[in-house]
Amino acid sequence: MSAVLQAQGAGMLSLAHVDTFYGETQALFDVSLEVGAGEVVALLGPNGAGKTTTLRTVLGLTPARRGAVQFDGRDVTHRPTHEIARAGLGWVPDDRRIFPTLTVARNLAIARKQTRFRSWSEKECFEIFSALEYLLHRECENLSGGEMQMVAISRALLGSPGLVLFDEPSQGLAPKVVQDVMKTIARLKAEGIAVLLVEQNVASALAVADRVYVMNLGTIVHEGPARELREDAALRCRLLGV
Ligand SMILES: Nc1ncnc2c1ncn2[C@@H]1O[C@H](COP(=O)(O)OP(=O)(O)O)[C@@H](O)[C@H]1O
Ligand SMILES: [Mg+2]
Repeated sequence: MSAVLQAQGAGMLSLAHVDTFYGETQALFDVSLEVGAGEVVALLGPNGAGKTTTLRTVLGLTPARRGAVQFDGRDVTHRPTHEIARAGLGWVPDDRRIFPTLTVARNLAIARKQTRFRSWSEKECFEIFSALEYLLHRECENLSGGEMQMVAISRALLGSPGLVLFDEPSQGLAPKVVQDVMKTIARLKAEGIAVLLVEQNVASALAVADRVYVMNLGTIVHEGPARELREDAALRCRLLGV
């Protein structure tokens, strides 16, 4: 079976008709999306569109009030976050959420876990981010934004993920570091790890993604191959303003 057919047959993540609320305020309206095994899917859209809320819903941090979330063939709609993470869901949050007063080495050590997916060694993380090895004994609060992002991505890998959720990984980073992050995403794909990538950096996201969803005002307003939005400037401009 071709990789494409496999990806279509074996869904890694699916949201079906999800409504999510903050208190009485509805933030997601009937959101349905799929990520196949080993697929890179970009989730784009303006500020406040509901992208982070979609990731929070998958993680069980702000659970769906209606609809269903499946991860790796299991219904995780109402499962606690730690259980979903243990099943192989990795997360690189928008604030990079590493422990500031701990060293890089300690931040990496506590991220390690076993799942049914391939496990990663620290040595493999150093091969991807060569600077990381020299930062091991630094406290994380003294790192640059790019260095923190390397730690955050390495932490996700050490958790042996089948799918990694990235929330605006290029935000605030120098162009060279953005390139490194996108190369890492391509590397994850080559290793068969699925990625759901939330980005404001449309060009970078379209360069690495297989498929794209565009959100606005809490709903999915477009779904299609990344190639279509790369090649059709008029469509891209209408949907994304760039
Ligand atoms: N903790 C929260 N409490 C209440 N409303 C929130 C909270 N977080 C986000 N929202 C609202 O939910 C909507 C979607 O936000 P969000 O998912 O953060 O958008 P995006 O990540 O696309 O910028 C926005 O209207 C935002 O104001
Ligand atoms: Mg956000």
